Amino acid sequence: MEVVIVDSGQRIAALAADAVQQLLQTKPTAVLGLATGSSPLALYDELVRRFQAKLVSFARAKAFMLDEYVGLGADHPERYRNVIEREIAGRVDFAPSSVRGPDANATDLMAACRAYDQAIRDAGGVDLQILGVGSDGHIAFNEPGSSLASRTRIKTLTRQTVADNARFFGGDESLVPRHVVTQGLGTIMEARHLVLMALGRGKAEAVHQMVEGAVSALWPASIIQFHPHATVLVDREAASRLQLSSYYEHVYAAKPPWQTL
Ligand code: GLP
Repeated sequence: MEVVIVDSGQRIAALAADAVQQLLQTKPTAVLGLATGSSPLALYDELVRRFQAKLVSFARAKAFMLDEYVGLGADHPERYRNVIEREIAGRVDFAPSSVRGPDANATDLMAACRAYDQAIRDAGGVDLQILGVGSDGHIAFNEPGSSLASRTRIKTLTRQTVADNARFFGGDESLVPRHVVTQGLGTIMEARHLVLMALGRGKAEAVHQMVEGAVSALWPASIIQFHPHATVLVDREAASRLQLSSYYEHVYAAKPPWQTL
């Protein structure tokens, strides 16, 4: 795992955008994994800037979303499919139908989950998965206690995540759906490159447990310690509980220029 500690969210966004840009330049048909939440927003803005500057095109790429709330109407602004459309998909040149999310309002949810995993496989798997991390250590919506081998399925949100996400629902926890459909930890681990971004002191404990703690369902993001190509981009506040922070900084400072993320 590579841990990169930087001074600002802008720098995190620029580094993650470099990885996406380089992938799309070498493999225009790449499959991206898109995350919601606030952590990737600056990255999406940066990708839009680079798209407008003609540095990157998504015209032949595909994308799969990580997760979705159950029970939000098709037009609800916080439905993740709509969030992704607003923040990135509708601002660049993805072809129609090339960005997919799990169907969380299907009558047969389990069949829809299995079909989603199959669709990712049929597309050749995810080349680069963008990730954030919840303050309770979840990735996508894999809450503490999630099977480390899980596939796309329905989950119930923890009280912590409901409280954390209430800010997207006008601060009203009662409006946050209790159920979600999420790619499993096993599904996410099949992506070829994980790029996880975390900002702010509220993420410091989760980042410490994810990078340096025991691999455990109690901190689901810790599964990424088993991934052969995981990049963790953090600001100083999110890095504030890391035991080996000076070592990570030493390694990154000595990184050969030809070696990308
Ligand atoms: C949300 C999403 C995750 C996201 C996480 C952190 O609930 N399902 O994909 O990574 O929680 O969100 P934020 O980046 O807003 O802190």
